[in-house]
Formats: sequence, C-alpha cells, structure tokens
Amino acid sequence: MPHSVCPWWIGYLLASPLRKWLGQDPEKILRPYVHEGMTVLEPGPGMGFFTIPLARLVGSSGRVIAVDLQPKMIASLKRRAAKANVMDRIDARVTSPDTMGLADLDGKVDFTLAFAVVHELPDTGHFFAEVARASKQNARVLLAEPRGHVGDEAFAAELSASANAGFTVAEHPAIHRSLTGLLFKN
Ligand SMILES: C[S@@+](CC[C@H](N)C(=O)[O-])C[C@H]1O[C@@H](n2cnc3c(N)ncnc32)[C@H](O)[C@@H]1O
Repeated sequence: MPHSVCPWWIGYLLASPLRKWLGQDPEKILRPYVHEGMTVLEPGPGMGFFTIPLARLVGSSGRVIAVDLQPKMIASLKRRAAKANVMDRIDARVTSPDTMGLADLDGKVDFTLAFAVVHELPDTGHFFAEVARASKQNARVLLAEPRGHVGDEAFAAELSASANAGFTVAEHPAIHRSLTGLLFKN
C-alpha cells in the first residue's frame, strides 16, 4: 500500500475549527464511544483536532495518550491542550516510524481513535498488533480514513489487517467524507 506522512503544516488546516462546520464534529463523532475515566489511545493526532475533545470526554479521571511521529505536531498539540486547560490528562508522545512504543499500556486502553492515519503507516499489520496489545478485552477502535484519498480496496486491506490482529468490525458509523469501521477486540 502506498504511504507518505502528511507535512506538518497541514496540521494547522486539520486542526481548524472550520472542519467541524464542514461536517466533522469531534464531539458528535466521539461521544458514543468515550466516557469519563477511560484510557484512550490516539495514534497520529496531528495538532489535536480530536485530542482536546477526547480529553474533555474522559474527564479529569481519564487520560489520552497521543502519539505522533512529528515533533511539530506534538508541540502544537501541547500548546493547544494547555490553552484549553486539559493538558493534565494528556500524555503526548513523539514516536518512531517503526513502533508506537506502547509497552507501558499493555491491556490498559479502552478506546483507540485512528483517524486519517493508518494509510500513512508503513506496516498496517504491525500497527494493529500494537493497538491490540495495548487494548483491553472488548476495547473499541474507531478507524476512519479519508474517502477518495483511501480507496475501497485499500480500506478493505486495513480491515483485514485489523482482523488478523484480533479485531471484529461491529459497524460502519456514518462520518462525513470518511470510510469507517468500529472495531471490537475479540
Ligand atoms: C492526516 S494527519 C491526521 C491528523 C489527525 N488524526 C486528524 O484527523 O486531524 C496524520 C497524522 O499521522 C501522523 N503519523 C504518520 N505516521 C505515523 C506513525 N508511524 N506513527 C505516529 N503518527 C504518525 C502524522 O504525523 C500526522 O500527524
């Protein structure tokens, strides 16, 4: 599958509040799956368009682990989260392309948001294996990819890689301009 990492400056566009008015409202998308006290993993958060709403939804007793390859994405995410007063529940990490480095999270994660990131990864199978290892039994993963940018066949290959790692597709939530899968860890 072809892959390339989105340039850091695109992070500013992706974090724009305009995106909400263009049909991707983070609270609406996340509220069915994220509750107070949860541990949430967000691979590829960019500058935090979803991270800050996730942090609000998990509340002061929960936490969000946001892991991104690009230091500029993480630096901006931290600035925005501090301004929104939710940095106390966010663990923002710069990761390497080969591993997300999640050994400390083994079996602890309740929910993972993988929004517009999996098509950028060099090894989808390895990614889902790392998410599976970090996830609790019955944990959920919301996978969303930009429709058009990611084709049906490539998306089917992502779902198949998730199945190999032990996830089952429960449904395909409707999200504007996105291919989606809500996955359960078996
Ligand atoms: C298209 S952006 C999506 C950002 C965010 N999820 C959103 O929807 O606004 C993809 C993000 O994934 C990150 N990324 C790419 N490869 C990665 C990897 N191997 N590990 C962690 N993050 C990665 C990029 O740096 C970028 O911030």
